[in-house]
Amino acid sequence: FLCLLLLVAWTNSQQCSHTSPCSPLKGGQPFQEPQQIHSANGQLIHDLILDVHNFTLDWLTVKRRLYNAIFPGPTYTIKAGDKFHLNFVNNLQEPDFRTSEENIFGFPNTTNIHTHGLHISSKEPQDNPFVVVPPNSTYNYKFDIKSDHPSGTYWYHPHFHGSTHFQNIGGMGGMLIVEDAPASMSMELASVSCPGNCQHDVQIVLQTFQYTHDEDSGFAMLQRDVHDYEGFRLNNITLESSTQTLEEWLEDSNNN
Ligand SMILES: *[C@@H]1O[C@H](CO)[C@@H](O)[C@H](O)[C@H]1NC(C)=O
Ligand SMILES: *[C@@H]1O[C@H](CO)[C@@H](O)[C@H](O)[C@H]1NC(C)=O
Ligand SMILES: *[C@@H]1O[C@H](CO)[C@@H](O)[C@H](O)[C@H]1NC(C)=O
Ligand SMILES: *[C@@H]1O[C@H](CO)[C@@H](O)[C@H](O)[C@H]1NC(C)=O
Repeated sequence: FLCLLLLVAWTNSQQCSHTSPCSPLKGGQPFQEPQQIHSANGQLIHDLILDVHNFTLDWLTVKRRLYNAIFPGPTYTIKAGDKFHLNFVNNLQEPDFRTSEENIFGFPNTTNIHTHGLHISSKEPQDNPFVVVPPNSTYNYKFDIKSDHPSGTYWYHPHFHGSTHFQNIGGMGGMLIVEDAPASMSMELASVSCPGNCQHDVQIVLQTFQYTHDEDSGFAMLQRDVHDYEGFRLNNITLESSTQTLEEWLEDSNNN
């Protein structure tokens, strides 16, 4: 009986960690609305800083390239007619994995920003998806939102060829809202939605959280393909009581 008690006590106090993982990986953190950044007096000027940060789910901590250290990035809410500037800092550093071949994964630390849904110029310093923001550099995006711009719920994300997929599924991205103009809304609609009655709105950004292979499209494989720094990969972590690496353990269907 004492043995059983001790066993229960030991099981309860067992710490799940990177080197001593617990099955299954539960997740289960409470829902959190993204960080909110609003324009004021006709403009929104904001610093968006890209760097590698820890992101933790249950006992699993992964290294991800994130905007302003959050997953997903901040929600930007602007109005038609606003000036919307992002002072973008790419704090990622050399070495980068460069490849001259087209449409081959690479450049994990090179990036840019692209918006979805905005009707704006594709010339610099607006939304030119061919802009290159190399490691340890900055770029000041200056988006002009026309006064007749349609309201809507949009998206921003990186679009540099070679790293766009890797950076997107890693957590770089966020919601971009062009707010409804109250005068153009029916009373019924205005009474249940933003900008006048935002208490009825809940913002949900759907973003996959991949940590290993997933039939050859998962994050671990992309990390290998783009030559991500070895120390950021879960196959870098060896377990205490097994010959598997953490990556292998997470991929093992017995542990799901
Ligand atoms: C990030 O996570 C690693 C592994 O769990 C940990 O060793 C490190 O201290 C964390 N760093 C920060 C800044 O929290
Ligand atoms: C990043 O750039 C700054 C300014 O150009 C420079 O002073 C610094 O040495 C660079 N840092 C690294 C780690 O390359
Ligand atoms: C990318 O930037 C991070 C953060 O500065 C750095 O640790 C890493 O070595 C760089 N290169 C690669 C290929 O990940
Ligand atoms: C983890 O990565 C670091 C940095 O590249 C390397 O020195 C170390 O040997 C790696 N450890 C394992 C277990 O792969």
